[in-house]
Amino acid sequence: MSNNNFKKIPMIDLKEELKLMRTPILEMMTEVLDSGVYVLGEKGKQLETIIASYVEASYGLGTANGTDALLLALKALDIGPGDEVITTPFTFFATAEAIAEAGATPVFVDIEKETYNMNPSNIEKVITKNTKAILVVHLFGKAANMKEIMRIANTHHLKVIEDACQAIGTESNGRRVGAIGDVGCFSFFPSKNLGAFGDAGFITTNHKHIYEKIKKIRDHGSEKKYHHSTIGMNSRLDEIQAAILLVKFNFLDIFLHKRKEVARMYTENLPSYLTTPSIAKNREHTFHQYCIELDERDELASYLNDSGIATAIYYPIPLHLQKAFDYLNYKSGDFPIAEETAERILALPISPTLTFRNQNYIISSVERYFESK
Ligand SMILES: Cc1ncc(COP(=O)(O)O)c(C=O)c1O
Repeated sequence: MSNNNFKKIPMIDLKEELKLMRTPILEMMTEVLDSGVYVLGEKGKQLETIIASYVEASYGLGTANGTDALLLALKALDIGPGDEVITTPFTFFATAEAIAEAGATPVFVDIEKETYNMNPSNIEKVITKNTKAILVVHLFGKAANMKEIMRIANTHHLKVIEDACQAIGTESNGRRVGAIGDVGCFSFFPSKNLGAFGDAGFITTNHKHIYEKIKKIRDHGSEKKYHHSTIGMNSRLDEIQAAILLVKFNFLDIFLHKRKEVARMYTENLPSYLTTPSIAKNREHTFHQYCIELDERDELASYLNDSGIATAIYYPIPLHLQKAFDYLNYKSGDFPIAEETAERILALPISPTLTFRNQNYIISSVERYFESK
């Protein structure tokens, strides 16, 4: 079925968002251009202070992207060859990729059916003498069960890295994610809830020594120009991106509020044949993605596509079944909840600029799909 009344409704419309902030962004970018300082300057420092304080962490550091933030966190905790890091198979590839890139071994545990996050009750079974850390993901903006994960980590003397790439501003038991474990990692990829106009990332921590170590590693292992005390990498945040993020940060809370409103409207109005997102007690959801579940996922996606509505599958293949991780020797059936979710999940458009009219059209199109069966 094609629809002529609407242009295609995208998953997120960044051009619409830009309309709300074009002037201050251009002013900020001009300031950076005129300053002549384009990497590690004043805008980056301001952003580090503002984001660290927003996340309620003692220290913040800009990085080139979220994947590097994860790698830097692992390196700062001295995690490398021979070490095991427990994580979830149901996440974006970068989570486990960073573990492998650090030279360590990702060890997966299955997820909670309702929240898609790592199920803490599976963690202790896979702890060995080589386990060094838990890399927990707050997927789609939904807080993982940090209370239980921190309890397990403390009992077994493990470090905790939070992949909060999709979850800036989310709270778990009244604390912002990213400041609960040892290190928090954020992505400011353009489509994220706080997004730059290119790649950008961020690290938070409450530990001064971790902050100082990461600050050095992100800049070629150097504290003083051309003096390198350790092997590092180049993962600094550009001033232009920092300036853009400073402007966009002013919209963050309003945008998160709008996302929650859009989510509430979906949940209240979508047909009950679908599984809509659950919100666990004391674990906030800031709806980076709004995901439904149903058996006929591919049929509905194709129907919506024909109706001019974009949808997306996050994620179609759990990480233990990705070719790149063949060497870990996992097999189909190892993590049944992640595998079943990957076959049933479908993300609907959600963004702060999604109009009431377009959302109504999406909801009525889903209803029409079920009526047509
Ligand atoms: C859960 C998760 N982890 C890590 C990343 C990596 O972030 P980036 O794309 O900024 O490298 C992303 C974003 O794409 C993500 O969603």
